[in-house]
Amino acid sequence: MLMADKTVLVTGTASGIGRETALLAVREGAAKVACLDVHDQNNEETAHELEKMGAEAIALHVDLGDVDQIRTGFKSTLEAFGRLDASAHIGGYSWRGETLDVTEDLWNLVMNVNLRGTFFCCQEALRIMYPQGSGAIVNMSADAAFNPIYGFALQAAGKGGIVNMTKTLALEAAPRGVRVNVVSPGICRTQKAGANRPFQPPLKRETAPPSDAVERLGDMTAIGRYMTMEEVANAFVFLCSDRASGVSGDLMFVNGGGYPTLEY
Ligand SMILES: NC(=O)c1ccc[n+]([C@@H]2O[C@H](COP(=O)([O-])OP(=O)(O)OC[C@H]3O[C@@H](n4cnc5c(N)ncnc54)[C@H](O)[C@@H]3O)[C@@H](O)[C@H]2O)c1
Repeated sequence: MLMADKTVLVTGTASGIGRETALLAVREGAAKVACLDVHDQNNEETAHELEKMGAEAIALHVDLGDVDQIRTGFKSTLEAFGRLDASAHIGGYSWRGETLDVTEDLWNLVMNVNLRGTFFCCQEALRIMYPQGSGAIVNMSADAAFNPIYGFALQAAGKGGIVNMTKTLALEAAPRGVRVNVVSPGICRTQKAGANRPFQPPLKRETAPPSDAVERLGDMTAIGRYMTMEEVANAFVFLCSDRASGVSGDLMFVNGGGYPTLEY
């Protein structure tokens, strides 16, 4: 099994890809899982589910926009489990809107959760992993960072920053036995059952895409369908595992081949 006896931390575990990754890690043998999310009720349900599957699990309230809470979350994980083999930083959200509607407060809110939150999760994971001389970190990007999509300038800045940060961190971490990678998923329907993202004012674009674009998004991918949460979780769990021992500083797309006909 890919994660036999491993101690794992996952952010964004109240819902969606983060939850799926925690579940898959335990199906692959992970023994201890720390679940970090801001939505307590659903996060506790995830931890409970992991315990029913035979793992030791803790649900920790962490707002990724708050660096002190991130530090406390990692400290509590180390106190509870004594080590950390893999850290998957998945929590966050996308925000789509006109650049002229992005206030300084909104910029701070979105960037603090997605980019700053991911950076400080990496920092805390490295603090634990360097003394161990081993560990794997996997961050979450988004295809909006690579394919210009109307209204995603803020999103592209944050999720693109995560990719560049990952590659540089990987260089620092490699000689200390720690791998750092990043996954960029394609379009994936998730429960969206965690924290609410900030309000998105309507787009004011002059040339609108077809009115059924959202329903047809899956058809516009090369593979002709949405990605599943499990397909994305598989990438996270593989990169967290020793099976990926030679992979670091890598960006793995899970998007079924991209978007030859994207009109969105
Ligand atoms: N679903 C997709 O198509 C897609 C595509 C590209 C990237 N992503 C990325 O995948 C990640 C997971 O999203 P998802 O699609 O599973 O959606 P989701 O809404 O189902 O899950 C997001 C999780 O992040 C948590 N979260 C949000 N803000 C938080 C905060 N401030 N502090 C702590 N936790 C917070 C939520 O509570 C929730 O549990 C996000 O980073 C998202 O940007 C998703």
